[in-house]
Order: sequence, then C-alpha cells, then structure tokens
Amino acid sequence: MSDGEDVVRRERFSGGPAREFLSSLAADERIFEADVAVDRAHVVMLAEQGIVDDETASEILTALSVVEVNGHEALPDGEDVHAAIETAVVEEVGPDGGRMHTARSRNDEVATCIRYRLREDLLDAIEATLALREALVARAEEHAETLAPGYTHLQPAQPTTVGHFLLSYERALARDTARLLDAYERTNRSPLGAAAFAGTPFDVDRERVADLLGFDGVLANATDAVSARDFLFESVAALAGLATTVSGLAEDLVVYSNRGFVELDDDYASTSSIMPQKKNPDTLELARAVAGDAHAGLSGLLTTLKGLPRAYNRDLQRATPHAWDAVDAATDAADVAGGAVATATWNESELAAAAGEGFTTATGVADLLASHGVPFRTAHEMVATAAESGADYDALDAAAESVLGDPLDAYVDRAAVEAALDPAESVASRDSAGGPAPEAMADQLAAAADALDADREAVEAAHESLAAARETLQSEVNEYA
Ligand code: ARG
Repeated sequence: MSDGEDVVRRERFSGGPAREFLSSLAADERIFEADVAVDRAHVVMLAEQGIVDDETASEILTALSVVEVNGHEALPDGEDVHAAIETAVVEEVGPDGGRMHTARSRNDEVATCIRYRLREDLLDAIEATLALREALVARAEEHAETLAPGYTHLQPAQPTTVGHFLLSYERALARDTARLLDAYERTNRSPLGAAAFAGTPFDVDRERVADLLGFDGVLANATDAVSARDFLFESVAALAGLATTVSGLAEDLVVYSNRGFVELDDDYASTSSIMPQKKNPDTLELARAVAGDAHAGLSGLLTTLKGLPRAYNRDLQRATPHAWDAVDAATDAADVAGGAVATATWNESELAAAAGEGFTTATGVADLLASHGVPFRTAHEMVATAAESGADYDALDAAAESVLGDPLDAYVDRAAVEAALDPAESVASRDSAGGPAPEAMADQLAAAADALDADREAVEAAHESLAAARETLQSEVNEYA
C-alpha cells in the first residue's frame, strides 16, 4: 500500500462520528514532551543500529525539534499525540518521516510515554510529601514540650504534646513516601521495543533506548510490556494512601481550630460572604476532600483494568487520566497541608488548659498504683470510681477506701499522686520508646530528621539520573540534527 492510500485508510477508520470519542489527543497534552523524547531516543537507536540511515535520522530529529517548539497546540489532528506527531514529522520530512515508526507500535510507545511522564509527577508528589514532613518535624521540634490534650473517640484521653501529635503524622507520611518511592521504582522501566506485543524482526537495542530515556531497565516480555498498567494502580494506590493520611491530618487540624487550639495563617483560611466574623479552615477541608478524588481514581483504574485481556485494548486509554487526576490532587493536598502546618499558630495556653480537662490523667494515676503493687485492673476500677466524684486527691482517697479497703497513702505517697494528676508530669512520666516525654521525643525527632534526609537523597538521586539521561539524549540528538 502506498503512503497516500495509508492516509486514506487512517481516515476511514477514525474519521467518522466517533472521532472525538476515539481521540485522546487533548488528554495527551500531558505526554506531549514525553512522546517527543521517546521518539528521539527511538530514532537515535534506529540510526545506531543501522535500521534507518543517519541522514533520515537527522531529518526526523530536526522535524521533532520543530514539532517540540511549535507545541502540542500546533499538532495536526490525529487519534492521539503519537499519531499527530508522526503526521507532523511526515509533513516536515516527507514519506521518509514514516520511518520513525519502524520497529515499534503505539502500544509500546504510549506505555513508555505514560511511565516517562508519571516518573516526574511521582517525584513532585514525593517532594510535596517531604515538604509536609519537614514542616511537621520543624513544628514538632518547636512544640516538643507544648502540652496538648490527646483524644480517642474524639473524647479527652491522655495529655500529650503538640510535637508528639505532629510527629505521628510525619511517621505515617514517611511510609507514604516509601510506597511512592516503591511505585517510582516499578514505574521507571521501559516497555519500548516490545512493538505491538510480540517483538519485532528489527535488531533493536531496547536497553539503549531505556538508557537514553533514563529508565532503570526494560520490561523484558513484550506482551507484558504493553499490557502492564500495574504501575498505574500501584502509583495511584500509594497516592490514595497519601491522600488518606493528609485527610486525617486535615481533619484533626479542623477540629483543633474549632476548639481554639490552633489558628491557621490567613493565607490558608477563608471567610464567609455573609458572616463578617468568620475565619474558616477551607484549605484543610479541601485537602481532606482530596482523598475522595484519589480513591475515585484508584477504583476507576482497577475497574477499568479488571478482566482486560492481553495485550493492548483501547480501554487502556481511559485508564491513564485517572493517574493524572490522582497525582495532581494528592500533590496539591500535600502541598497545601505543608503550608498550613508550617504557618499555623498553636495556642499554648488553650492547649495547656485543655490538656488536663476530662480527667485525662486518670490512666497515669492507675499506672502509679499499679507500680505500687495494686493489680492494674483493680487500680483502673478504683480510679474509675474516683472519676465519678471529682477526680481530685480527695475523690481518689475515698475511692481507695471503698475499693481497696485502705486510704490512698497506704499505697503511695500523696506527692506522687499529686504529680500524676499534673498533665505536664503525666507527659514527662511516659518516657517509653515512642512516648511523648522529652527524652523519648528527642529520639523520635532525630530519627525523623534522618529518615527525611535519606528520602531527600533518594529523590535527588532520581532527579539527577533523569537529568543526566536528558542531557545524554540531547547530545546524541545533536550528533544528528
Ligand atoms: N491513545 C492510545 C492510548 O492512550 C494510544 C495507543 C493506541 N494504540 C492502539 N493500538 N490503538 O492508549
């Protein structure tokens, strides 16, 4: 079939009333630059392998630079960005431009483009997560000894510190970071050279293309390479996890701001169009809601992928945008939460007053009795009795008489009980590993700072390796164009 007939054939198969429904061209703007890079690496490899001659490679690479400069907007119509760029190259070069698509298919091409782009997006998401963690560690350090009420079931539970509370979220976000880095690692593999799904008779160098594009290796099995979208749901699952962590943090801060424990900086608050006095934590409410976007993306993706046969099916075109939506939303949420945390003001006097409200030191008193020979369950019973009638020393003394049969000072001296009733002493006493006492907090702060450094280095290394690949590819392209 001649080239002229080929164009007609393409028109026949995608020019009808379903044209728009079929096309991913608009959504593909996201992978425009990725496709140009993938085309470049492929053409360089084709030339190196003698599959296209250097002059043709040079013409194609020059045309790709024109396409790149003109941008996605200027592309001719096409079923997708891959077809449109190819058309633009053929328009520039003539029929020889069609040699660009030798030894590949849009199936391996699109999978490579998505991975290429998602890598950057995952790094952005990780960086937003690191910034949030950094803010949490900095504020935790600053408020390591700022008393705060701790809750279970949203009921006053035990005194803790703002620092300990904040670090709890940093730890969760460290695991979110680890999941994102894992997803990055499996995303960063090249499908290119798989062709449609069954390889190619051309002597392609798949490793070379992977190198030029900064991938850590290839997906060896050609059918797997074009079919696989587990990197998408793994990434989106990690992002949904991140969004879930952020939603919890946002919810806690909304509740704390409601109680006057924390005030958001004006930049992170909104007011009301009717109620002049209002300062609302809208940014955190939106950050809390992003879990909905990310979870929708995950379930959309998994539903689309479920039961798909090998190797390429057009359903995959609708899988991809779920990942873009999820990564954008989760990154924004982490970003905004980081800013809100970094700039919020903690109201130390309100917090200190609330730290002891609701007999939050009750557990400490029971612990004290248990460390002086009373079985913990009996001590629990005794303190519960006291809780009903005042929760002070006298109430505890009366409860000791009635439940234990002896006055309180038969078990433990009064000064120790008074200390246990003090929220600050209560916090200081809980110095077990991971607890809120200052020594235990110092260890946790140091560990968090170390973990943060290590994760920063991992992201730096990933950025550097991508930048190095971009440079190599550019200098290889310059050899021809
Ligand atoms: N636009 C398509 C996608 O996003 C590209 C691959 C099309 N391949 C095909 N054989 N129809 O998945």
